[in-house]
Amino acid sequence: MSQQRVSVVTGGALGIGGATSRRLAADGDVVILNDIDGAAAETACAEIEAAGGRVVPVVGDVVDDAVIDRIVAAVREQGRVDVLVNNVGDFRPASKTFLHSTPDQWQRLYDLNLLHVLKLTHALLPIMVEQGSGAIVNTSTVEAFRGIPGHAAYSAYNAGVSAFTKSLAVEVGRHGVRVNAIAPDLADTPQTSASAMLRGRDPDLVRHWLPLGRYGHVDDYASVVAFLASDEARFVTGHTVPVDGGTLAASGWYGRVDGKGWTNMPDRP
Ligand SMILES: NC(=O)c1ccc[n+]([C@@H]2O[C@H](COP(=O)([O-])OP(=O)(O)OC[C@H]3O[C@@H](n4cnc5c(N)ncnc54)[C@H](O)[C@@H]3O)[C@@H](O)[C@H]2O)c1
Repeated sequence: MSQQRVSVVTGGALGIGGATSRRLAADGDVVILNDIDGAAAETACAEIEAAGGRVVPVVGDVVDDAVIDRIVAAVREQGRVDVLVNNVGDFRPASKTFLHSTPDQWQRLYDLNLLHVLKLTHALLPIMVEQGSGAIVNTSTVEAFRGIPGHAAYSAYNAGVSAFTKSLAVEVGRHGVRVNAIAPDLADTPQTSASAMLRGRDPDLVRHWLPLGRYGHVDDYASVVAFLASDEARFVTGHTVPVDGGTLAASGWYGRVDGKGWTNMPDRP
């Protein structure tokens, strides 16, 4: 494509979204960077511009309809939208058990993980359909496919993201619009920092726990988003790609700390 692509990234300042907006800008896109954290957005935009990229900040909570309107206005100013990365999502607020969770928490998790994905997609899709092209990359989680105690509502809404991805892909393929998702696990980000995941345990143990032997760097996820958004993935639509270092494939299997194979009985050597 000779024309410069225009890409929208929600939560585009820090974590996986931060790496994605930097990556897409480095690849030559004009990035419309939405984030709730004004200071982090300013830093991200300054870094992108210092590296020669083009970025338009839209600071605000993507759950808020007025912020969605501002993202759409920024897109209209650019005259097109080629890529939409619906990255915002959060497992918090969390309860120890579903039994102790409250309807207010479910509502917040719904707003943060699923509703804004539908709203922003609905707002930008007509422009992609009119163009006859576009790529949407949503963010689900491995927990859409594998159970996670204490996060039943979060996993349900992310299963919704993956189901939305599939069904919308079928509907809009004829308009030249592709819809895919990534399902991250174990990213070292502000939301799930390596130190919080380790909780004081020896970092060297990580190489035993996961098939690829380390936590994910934000760039590991951004590169898959960039691929799904690109013409390299032109015949891929409707899929959620796990980016998880192999945890979904391993499922309940853990590498033994003594290096002697694997166990699904963590209390046994
Ligand atoms: N970190 C993981 O291992 C992991 C695992 C599974 C799924 N995910 C999903 O990947 C996505 C990114 O995760 P992360 O760990 O990079 O998150 P993060 O919390 O580290 O970063 C999120 C970014 O989005 C911004 N943000 C948060 N809420 C926002 C809102 N309401 N409106 C606009 N911006 C907002 C934050 O300021 C930050 O810049 C999320 O959807 C998350 O659920 C992450």
